Amino acid sequence: MTGPAVQKFDILIIGSGAAGLTLALRAAPFAKVAVLSKASLEQGATFYAQGGIAAVLDDRDSLASHIDDTMTVGGGLCHRDMVEHVVGNSAGAVQWLLEQGVPFSTRSGAGNRRDGGESSSVDLSSLHLAQEGAHSHRRIIHATDATGKAVFQTLRRRASEHPAIELMVNRTAIDLVVHDPGGARRRCAGVYVLDDATRRVSAIKARFVVLATGGASKSYLYTTNPDSASGDGIAMAWRAGCRVANMEFNQFHPTCLFHPHARSFLITEAMRGEGARLELADGTRFMTRFDSRGELSSRDIVARAIDHETKRLGEDCVYLNITHRPADLVRERFPNIYRRLQELGIDITRDRIPVVPAAHYTCGGVIVNRDGETDIDNLYAIGETTFSGLHGANRIASNSLSECFVIAFSAAQSIRRKIGDTPFAGAIQDWPNGRAESGDDILVSHNWDELRRCMWDYVGIVRSDARLRRAEKRLAMLREEIHEHFRRYHISRDMLELRNLILVAGLIVRGAGARKESRGLHFNLDHPGLLSEAADTVLTPAGHTDLLHGDQPLS
Ligand code: FAD
Ligand code: SIN
Repeated sequence: MTGPAVQKFDILIIGSGAAGLTLALRAAPFAKVAVLSKASLEQGATFYAQGGIAAVLDDRDSLASHIDDTMTVGGGLCHRDMVEHVVGNSAGAVQWLLEQGVPFSTRSGAGNRRDGGESSSVDLSSLHLAQEGAHSHRRIIHATDATGKAVFQTLRRRASEHPAIELMVNRTAIDLVVHDPGGARRRCAGVYVLDDATRRVSAIKARFVVLATGGASKSYLYTTNPDSASGDGIAMAWRAGCRVANMEFNQFHPTCLFHPHARSFLITEAMRGEGARLELADGTRFMTRFDSRGELSSRDIVARAIDHETKRLGEDCVYLNITHRPADLVRERFPNIYRRLQELGIDITRDRIPVVPAAHYTCGGVIVNRDGETDIDNLYAIGETTFSGLHGANRIASNSLSECFVIAFSAAQSIRRKIGDTPFAGAIQDWPNGRAESGDDILVSHNWDELRRCMWDYVGIVRSDARLRRAEKRLAMLREEIHEHFRRYHISRDMLELRNLILVAGLIVRGAGARKESRGLHFNLDHPGLLSEAADTVLTPAGHTDLLHGDQPLS
């Protein structure tokens, strides 16, 4: 039974990205909050976000237009109520971020404040608005080309100053503790957590647990995402009994840098918004052959076009060219990309940038409502780990950060309403520390590589029934090895991530196999048309997991 040292918080948030930190700050006035990160606090996608945050701030723009653009890109699968909720509250979220001190770029001389100080003197109408693909207006609020870093650093500073927030690094959440009263709804009581420093697992109790663990793009060999994107929240929620949806909609960003010495470096879509052109090796532009919007078509179309052209010509990459724009503008608007590429010997004011598509965003995830509530009581999920219905079959650029903030606000309100009537749950069973042998790191890292290559080769931008069947077979073999490893050996963060990745990869393949059409990001050569009715792919876990002894089967 639980020892006396068990830690307790009103709210335990797993994840220190935009979603987790926002909820922490919104809840801190009424609750004692802990925020966990499995590595350093900045190890999430948020820190790397470049383009910005979509919100309607211009008089010539309208909420109706932002809603329409989102729904059009979403390919018939966006849930209108959720789109209205997020779009309608995005400007409020930007206002709140300004109040926290986020140094957004302003219109005056591009006004790129980088002092990290208070921005209370800056108002919404003075912010510079950028353009991104498939948005019919300029509506992207940004901090030059490093929006995520500016947001993260500001929220982290605020959170670390707040006496009600405890930030805990190098702690990996393993599994949720769920109490099943039998008959009534199941209830989340806490989380099992691995402490990297001691290599021991302990339980943390909470009245409310929030998954803010980001996406699962690390299931693919090539990705714009940091290592943290291993789908941990989706896997934990599934093992605990939550439904997930639309896992087949994996977004591939069209323009990831193609360079032997720079892994995963994104070239923001906002560069195409400032006029950058996509070209083949011989300088020919090709995007208008695929869509009349050219370089500013939605991401699914641009990524597929690049995939098609590179395969047709047997080339490794295509090129992004912004050399026709004034050098000063390019340097001022994209200072971080300019600097990073200079280090790699590419001067973007004179040279073209070699680019390829890479896995970027997980549109599916844990099913939540507009307050972030899941299928289990007292368990919330927010941010990229969720399926809220906002993105449909394809996410429009820069709606992800807006979703993180808006749903975190709603979740905080929902928790506030309930907290007075929510006691801590009873005792939590101890994790059996010390039962296992030392593991073999080589096996773990080879399983990682195999899994990610399999997903890239067979479940990538263009799919087919035969490719999906092959993926299923390969993953089944890997799953067995990985589970055996998990049962036998001491756990490490790498192993936990691998255990989650194999589960999430299986969910992606199942979702892809179930969708007998090509819609949005999911393109299957054997089913190139659209079904007449658009429906979400909802997957339901069968039975309950034995948390301490392994995973349930996928079906
Ligand atoms: P993340 O920021 O990914 O944070 C996840 C957190 O969870 C991390 O702290 C991680 O350590 C923690 N975590 C995960 N698993 C565990 C575990 N088991 N135990 C403990 N902690 C755990 N979107 C936009 O809207 N605009 C953009 O301009 C934009 N640019 C992007 C650029 C890049 C390169 C990338 C990769 C993404 C971009 N996106 C953009 C997408 C957007 O950044 C993400 O969707 C968003 O930041 C996700 O935030 P989050 O809080 O949900 O998760
Ligand atoms: C980008 O800057 O191109 C990424 C924007 C996003 O993913 O929304």
